[in-house]
Amino acid sequence: MSTLPNLSFFGKKVLVTAGPTYEKLDPVRFIGNYSSGKMGYAIAELFADMGAEVTLISGPVNITISHPNVKVVKIESALEMFNTCTQLFSAIDIAIMSAAVADYRPEHYSETKIKKQEESLTIHLVKNPDILKTLGLQKRENQILIGFALENHNELENAKVKLISKNADAIVLNTLNDAGAGFQHDTNQITIILKNGAIFEFPLKTKKEVAKDIAACVLKLL
Ligand code: C5P
Repeated sequence: MSTLPNLSFFGKKVLVTAGPTYEKLDPVRFIGNYSSGKMGYAIAELFADMGAEVTLISGPVNITISHPNVKVVKIESALEMFNTCTQLFSAIDIAIMSAAVADYRPEHYSETKIKKQEESLTIHLVKNPDILKTLGLQKRENQILIGFALENHNELENAKVKLISKNADAIVLNTLNDAGAGFQHDTNQITIILKNGAIFEFPLKTKKEVAKDIAACVLKLL
C-alpha cells in the first residue's frame, strides 16, 4: 500500500532565495562568494513536494531544478534579488532567505574592462540593501519569514540578535566550525531559533534532510 503524500503546504505560496550574488566590477569581473545554492534548492524542492507553490530566486549556481511547483527566477546581483523579493513578497505566505547575499557592491561599474596600471588598485564598495530586514519591516501577521545566519563566533547570541533586528520568525544558524557543513558541501549542521525563544539543535545531515527539519519548524509557526 502506498503512503499518501504529505501536502501540508498545499495552497501556500513560498519564496526561497538561494545561491550567491555576483556584484559586477566590469564586463568580466565580479565580487562573489562560494555559496553553491544546494541548501536553497533542497528547501525549494521539499516545499514543492509538500504541495507549496514555490518561487525560487536564484543567484548564479551550477545546479538546476525541474519541478511543476517551482518557478525559478534567475538573478545576479543583490540589488536584482532585492527588487524581485520586494515585488513578490506581499503575495507570499512563507519566505525562506537562504541566499548568501553580498553585503557590499562596487560603487562604480566600468563598462570597459579595468586595465592593469598602478601597483595597487582601490575598489570602493557601498552597502547593499538588507533584503531580509526589508521584508521583516513589510511583514504582515500571517506571513512567515525565515532567515539564515552563518557565524563563526558567538553563534547563538548573534543569531538571536539577527532574529530580533530583522523581525524574522526563525533563524537557521549554520556554523563554519563544523567539518562538512555549509558552503559547497552536500551536508549541513543547523540550529533553528524560533522567535518564542525555542532552540532546536540538529546533527550533521544531508541538505535534503535539513530541509525537512526546516519544514517541520515552519509547520510549528503556521
Ligand atoms: O546579517 P546577515 O547577512 O548575516 O544575515 C543573513 C541573512 O540575511 C540571510 O538570511 C541572508 O539571505 C539575508 N541577507 C539579505 N540581504 C542582505 C544580506 C543578507 O537578505 N543584503
